[in-house]
Amino acid sequence: MPKNLPFFPESASTFSGSVDALYLAAVGMSAFFSLLIAVLVVWLAVRYRRRHPDSVGHAEHENNLLEIAWTVIPLGILIGLFFWGAKVFFTMGRIPPDAATYYVTGKQWMWKFQHPEGNREINELHIPVGKPVKLIMASEDVIHSVFVPAFRVKMDVVPGRYRTMWFKATKPGTFHLFCTEYCGAEHSKMVGSVIAMPPAEYEAWLRVGRPAQTMAASGGQLFSQLACDTCHRSDSAARAPILDGLYGKTVRFLDGGSAVVDDNYLRQSILDPSSQIVAGYNPIMPTFRGQITEEELHQLVLYVRELGAPAAATTVATATPSADATH
Ligand code: CUA
Repeated sequence: MPKNLPFFPESASTFSGSVDALYLAAVGMSAFFSLLIAVLVVWLAVRYRRRHPDSVGHAEHENNLLEIAWTVIPLGILIGLFFWGAKVFFTMGRIPPDAATYYVTGKQWMWKFQHPEGNREINELHIPVGKPVKLIMASEDVIHSVFVPAFRVKMDVVPGRYRTMWFKATKPGTFHLFCTEYCGAEHSKMVGSVIAMPPAEYEAWLRVGRPAQTMAASGGQLFSQLACDTCHRSDSAARAPILDGLYGKTVRFLDGGSAVVDDNYLRQSILDPSSQIVAGYNPIMPTFRGQITEEELHQLVLYVRELGAPAAATTVATATPSADATH
């Protein structure tokens, strides 16, 4: 895009090019056909105008070739647009496995961010340039929506479940972050910035603000504060499922159903444990709904996930500058 043309936001992610190209193709196609039809309407009206007050028109028979052409050509164009759009959509939906994860909580009317290293921010998110970034997003109250125009990403943040999206910033800078779903009186103030930094600067920024404990450690603390560990112990398998190594596995329920243990499964099991009783156990777990905030839930889920994925746990536990530089 021309630099001084203010019709487009800045392009700062790997999605910008493909989203803009698709958008321009759709607009260009619409403009071309609008213009073509408008010109034909005027030209035909003039060309076949009534020249004498007593002239009478004569019926035209249909032209099969013409009708097939103006059906098949637009059909082909639209099907092409569909596949093109689907390709962009799937690229945006497939999260690279090596993406760095950040935790987002939307609430009336602010954005809260947590880094796995433990850093927390409000209405600002610092990220490294050139690395895929994954957001796991929850809402404390109503539907919000994350929108970063410069990255061409937007996703609703819906209460009651996690939503995820990813992007990769291509240049450093401070980019607008909007809530783009009307969420109450101060919706228009629910704005912030994403600050993309060169990786070395980002590491330095992380170190300066790094709190005493990682997110997973905070989750572990909650795990004992809420007394989860009285039942979920590796030596008390009869009372509650063992959580070590559970993440990513398939669990079977009393009612015959099954599910893969992922973030949303863990979230629901904490807030609504009786909805999914794992076969072989009694429904004795109380709900923790109302006792734990979405931010804390992020920590707890991360803690349990890392019990199940030792490799990921190592990444966070050894998040020293030298180790970080490798991913
Ligand atoms: Cu949150 Cu609008």
